[in-house]
Amino acid sequence: MSKNNKNEVVMSVKNLTKIFKSGIFNPEYTTAVKDVSFDIEKGKIISLIGESGSGKTTVGKLILKLINPSSGQIIYKGQDIAEITDKKDTQKYYRRVQGIFQDPFATFNPLYRVDRVFDMIFDSYELGFSDKDEAIRKVLHDVNLNPDRTLGKFPHQLSGGQLQRLLIARALLMDVDILIADELISMLDASTRIGVLNLLVESCKKNGMAVIFITHDLNLGYYISDQSLIMYKGRLVERGATKKIYENSTHPYTKMLFEAVPEIGDRWDPEEEFLPEQVVGEVKDFYQNNQGRGFVEVEKGHSVLFSDE
Ligand SMILES: Nc1ncnc2c1ncn2[C@@H]1O[C@H](COP(=O)(O)OP(=O)(O)O)[C@@H](O)[C@H]1O
Ligand SMILES: [Mg+2]
Repeated sequence: MSKNNKNEVVMSVKNLTKIFKSGIFNPEYTTAVKDVSFDIEKGKIISLIGESGSGKTTVGKLILKLINPSSGQIIYKGQDIAEITDKKDTQKYYRRVQGIFQDPFATFNPLYRVDRVFDMIFDSYELGFSDKDEAIRKVLHDVNLNPDRTLGKFPHQLSGGQLQRLLIARALLMDVDILIADELISMLDASTRIGVLNLLVESCKKNGMAVIFITHDLNLGYYISDQSLIMYKGRLVERGATKKIYENSTHPYTKMLFEAVPEIGDRWDPEEEFLPEQVVGEVKDFYQNNQGRGFVEVEKGHSVLFSDE
């Protein structure tokens, strides 16, 4: 593929399935992710949208190699990431693929000043800045943090939103290929939210960073993304250019999402169950009426799961 190709694929997720087993004597199996496939293109933002429990975080964790798939592959630069096992290669992978999770406090060691997240990357990687401190200060400005009020602080002295922006700053410094942002925005107050979203969009355009923007909030997904992936009960039910999905939503779950979109400014509680019984029934009927069709491209770059057998 040519370097100038606008749609350069950096990662391919192929038929990814994750089944969790819990309990020893009477094990229970949860299919968190089933047969999910999509490509991640350079410099593009993909929204991964679905209600709580639909498997979004599991997809993120699989890409970040925090857990192993039950089946399927994640191909990064021609290699199945399951083959990356030794420490050196794993470190190399994390040089280019990073995640920011819902609870940024978990990423920071409470005993160390936040500067340590930068020290660690400069210790581990050759980042090619002549003046390390200047580079850090510049990138903090880029994410709208005042370096003098941020550096030298302990994690508990900053807000969740500030810590998330620190992590975005780190990703920008490292010039990552793929950033997984899991419910990133839920921690931010309204005044910061749009700023951070715009920052992500700009970084993608400028640095060619791809973002997987995981959200249960369709509004945010629509605002920010080029491509959308709609997940329902572990399955990818609709996939394609965000605009096409919006204008021509086909799966009953996607339709419901777009019909139920709250006013801008209304917040959906990520823990809240908002799936009406009626939708469960509609999805069942839809699959029943389309038996055997499976995952089908309905127009160029827009595919729908018509039946889940
Ligand atoms: N470590 C785990 N062990 C067992 N079940 C899990 C584990 N992690 C997630 N699950 C289950 O997998 C499903 C998908 O979870 P998750 O990926 O966190 O969904 P989402 O991020 O969309 O809310 C849920 O039913 C959840 O309870
Ligand atoms: Mg989640």
